[in-house]
Amino acid sequence: MVQINSNFQKLPGSYLFSEIARRVAAYAQANPDRALIKLGIGDVTLPLPAAVTAAMHAAVDEMATAQGFHGYGPEQGYSFLRDAIAQQDYQDRGVNIQPDEIFISDGAKSDCGNIVDLFGPDNKVAVCDPVYPVYVDTNAMSGRAGEYDEKSGRWTNLVYMPCVAENDFMPDLPGEEVDMIYLCFPNNPTGAAATKEQLKPWVDYANRTGAVLLFDGAYEAFITTPGVPHSIYEIPGAETCAIEFRSFSKTAGFTGTRCAYTVVPKALTRQGASLNAMWNRRQCTKFNGVPYVVQRGAAALYTPEGRQQAKDHVAVYQNNARVIREGLANAGLTVSGGVDSPYVWARTPNGMGSWEFFDLLLRQANVVTTPGAGFGPSGEGYIRLTGFGETEATRQAVERIRNVL
Ligand code: MLT
Repeated sequence: MVQINSNFQKLPGSYLFSEIARRVAAYAQANPDRALIKLGIGDVTLPLPAAVTAAMHAAVDEMATAQGFHGYGPEQGYSFLRDAIAQQDYQDRGVNIQPDEIFISDGAKSDCGNIVDLFGPDNKVAVCDPVYPVYVDTNAMSGRAGEYDEKSGRWTNLVYMPCVAENDFMPDLPGEEVDMIYLCFPNNPTGAAATKEQLKPWVDYANRTGAVLLFDGAYEAFITTPGVPHSIYEIPGAETCAIEFRSFSKTAGFTGTRCAYTVVPKALTRQGASLNAMWNRRQCTKFNGVPYVVQRGAAALYTPEGRQQAKDHVAVYQNNARVIREGLANAGLTVSGGVDSPYVWARTPNGMGSWEFFDLLLRQANVVTTPGAGFGPSGEGYIRLTGFGETEATRQAVERIRNVL
């Protein structure tokens, strides 16, 4: 008889955003007359930038010719895209990342999940609390998280680093030695952005102890505050201890088109092994690469027009986040985030539970949010709203929430 991976049996309930989608669908079915406004999952609403679709159309036409047809592509991504990323996202910002340290993929979520393949089963994993659930669930699936404790909402083998109002939503270095450390800045879900001074101790820690930082930079394009680093590699020494995940999903409307990249520096070695070589081996074996047409679309973001169009997208979402942040603050809620991030993190009123407030807003305001408790125990008492909605709908959502409050 086959043995299943019994770690899956330990996972509580369903994946956070699937659970929300299920509840919202049930509510919508029972109340077909209600027009819901969705500010829950961070899914974008603007169409793909014109530069992207033009490049994709051209690539489709190329694929229809004998000379321009592309079969299997390089698993690591085409050099036209890797070169552009290395140059414009890193070298132009004074960071020495080379094209062969960049791996094109179909999503930061996939890569954040798949990266655990590189690490042994007994590593101690540290996560922020609240946290993007993918880091926790994928370590649970691969047996590194121990057992789920319903009462505390925590996994027995994970080290949780609370990010709460008292520490400005910035994790403190863990009190015990850890090996794999997930950091996400600007943060999902709290919207907090880390300065160089706040990131440096993590780089120093990882280099000193041999830990690896798994740095999720999916929201870097939303940084507005001068001096806030856009990449972990802006911190000296990060190239020997950090892997960085980036995505085109939120910056250029690729949530349905799928393109992202992961940076694994060649200087990053552990136990004599190159993590760049290991990730390359993993991708060549398990991944067929991102479609040529999609990579051509992503490469268009590195032309002057494409860059400007992506900036314009981000500006719309930044403005939405501002509308949410200011509107909810005026309504008396305590809010943070939404400045260097598309996410606004709001405290529930009168000590209400996250799911309770989520339900209240769903039923009375017909606005979908994300309950903070879904991101971990320290998210209890908060909800998250995204700036990725349509502008007019976002304004209306804030108005409806204010009326309910
Ligand atoms: C979120 O809402 O946190 C994100 O959209 C989820 C994701 O990017 O996978």
